[in-house]
Amino acid sequence: MTTTTAVTLAGATGLTGGFSLKSILTSPHAFDLTVLTRRSLSDTPTPINPSTKLTTRLYNDLFTAPTDEHSIAQPGGIYISCLGTTRAKAGGTAQQEKIDLDLNRDLAARAKKDGADTMILVSSGGASATSRSFYLRIKGQLEEDVKVMGFGHVVILRPGFLLGERPEKRFFEGLAQPVFRFLGKFSSEATNVGAAIAYLAANPPSEKLSVLYDAEIVSCAKQYHEAKAQSGSK
Ligand SMILES: NC(=O)c1ccc[n+]([C@@H]2O[C@H](COP(=O)([O-])OP(=O)(O)OC[C@H]3O[C@@H](n4cnc5c(N)ncnc54)[C@H](OP(=O)(O)O)[C@@H]3O)[C@@H](O)[C@H]2O)c1
Repeated sequence: MTTTTAVTLAGATGLTGGFSLKSILTSPHAFDLTVLTRRSLSDTPTPINPSTKLTTRLYNDLFTAPTDEHSIAQPGGIYISCLGTTRAKAGGTAQQEKIDLDLNRDLAARAKKDGADTMILVSSGGASATSRSFYLRIKGQLEEDVKVMGFGHVVILRPGFLLGERPEKRFFEGLAQPVFRFLGKFSSEATNVGAAIAYLAANPPSEKLSVLYDAEIVSCAKQYHEAKAQSGSK
């Protein structure tokens, strides 16, 4: 008999978060999934495990969630962040830092306070708290902050340039995706990130800290699909 895993997901309306949501719901493993979002979810697949349950927690503004009266994560559960933005969408680097670093850190701290045991974070290849690049520096800073929050296990995914269709057009991404696909490296398929997250949520690593680059992400995604095939689900 498999046990149900309590999971909280932030960023489910985004590219990697959307694939994570789909992969968790269509996993043979049973999840009690709570999604923290400021937008309604569209087209959520029917869970294939009858014990899997989805709760959508809709906020006017996710910045209120860290101090909300309701807990965001369950004791012993898993907190997953696919939350982030771009400088262009946020309207500048200061605003981007408020979301990519401050909001992510505050949500993770709240999940830890609520008793979450494991944090799975979508960071970025090249993340480093000492990087000269603003983006890589705030990603690295967030990693450092999450590592010392006291989670039993921290899993950091460091994908390369993300490949996948977004509802909105991003000018640079539109130009760069074919180039990265042609190169066949320095990039990660967003669908693999989502499948890897569902695999890791069902099979959390025993190590206190795991850092996964594209090769490990692909490997976890493969194991997710193998487990599904073995269970007879599509
Ligand atoms: N793009 C790349 O090539 C790349 C490469 C490596 C790593 N990364 C990193 O990987 C992570 C996931 O990337 P992604 O492309 O999957 O992200 P994405 O598609 O841009 O989605 C971001 C998610 O964060 C949410 N979000 C953003 N600002 C918010 C706010 N102020 N309040 C509440 N929710 C907010 C979005 O919600 P809404 O839908 O409501 O906006 C969405 O669910 C990010 O941290 C990103 O920096 C990206």
